[in-house]
Amino acid sequence: MSKPQSRKKINSQSDVTNQATGQSWVYSDIVKDHFFHPRNLLLGDPRPGDYDAVGEVGSPACGDVMKMWVKVDKKTDRIKDLKWRTFGCGSAIAATSMFSLMVTENGGLNIDQALKIKPQQIMARLGGLPARKIHCSVLADKAFRQAINNYFRLSGQPQRIMPDGGKIIDRRLNITDHDIEEAVLEGARNLADVQKKLKVGVGDQEALPEIEQLVRFYVEKYYGEK
Ligand code: FES
Repeated sequence: MSKPQSRKKINSQSDVTNQATGQSWVYSDIVKDHFFHPRNLLLGDPRPGDYDAVGEVGSPACGDVMKMWVKVDKKTDRIKDLKWRTFGCGSAIAATSMFSLMVTENGGLNIDQALKIKPQQIMARLGGLPARKIHCSVLADKAFRQAINNYFRLSGQPQRIMPDGGKIIDRRLNITDHDIEEAVLEGARNLADVQKKLKVGVGDQEALPEIEQLVRFYVEKYYGEK
């Protein structure tokens, strides 16, 4: 029998160990179940007319891509069917699988209810995710919002389209609220962290109160902390 290769600090209590850094983390049994048995995954392309709209987004943090198809009951506004496909990591797969279940279970949520699902609700149903993986779990929400906006466009409801253009917060550096959101998703937890990443507010001191407010908003949204 061959001897196992020596690796850098493998933690036998963890599910994943980065062999370069030695960092490790554990996944809940629910996360593992959804990773190994993803619900509502669509591997091939759908037939024309099977779905009402599609959304596709990429993660600025890691470059991974998520595609999502939705079918909506026109009378009740409920999500009748939702399928997805991603080239993201295990956390993205598990979180999107759970999101797809939450949106379609018990006859399906209506669009407004589905848009209100918070990342913390998905985390709670999954039994938690490592904080560094939060940016993976929001890919589902972003793809869903884009699919629904496309549905509003295609179904003649332009008044319901949600604005998604970024608002410029730091005029000197052209930094938007989306940039601040991404910095938080990549791990920044306070104004100092965000400034270190983006240099935001350095040449535009007047923007600082708004930046601080946005950082608090996104930290609470994604990590449930104030
Ligand atoms: S690291 Fe890219 S989706 Fe998780």
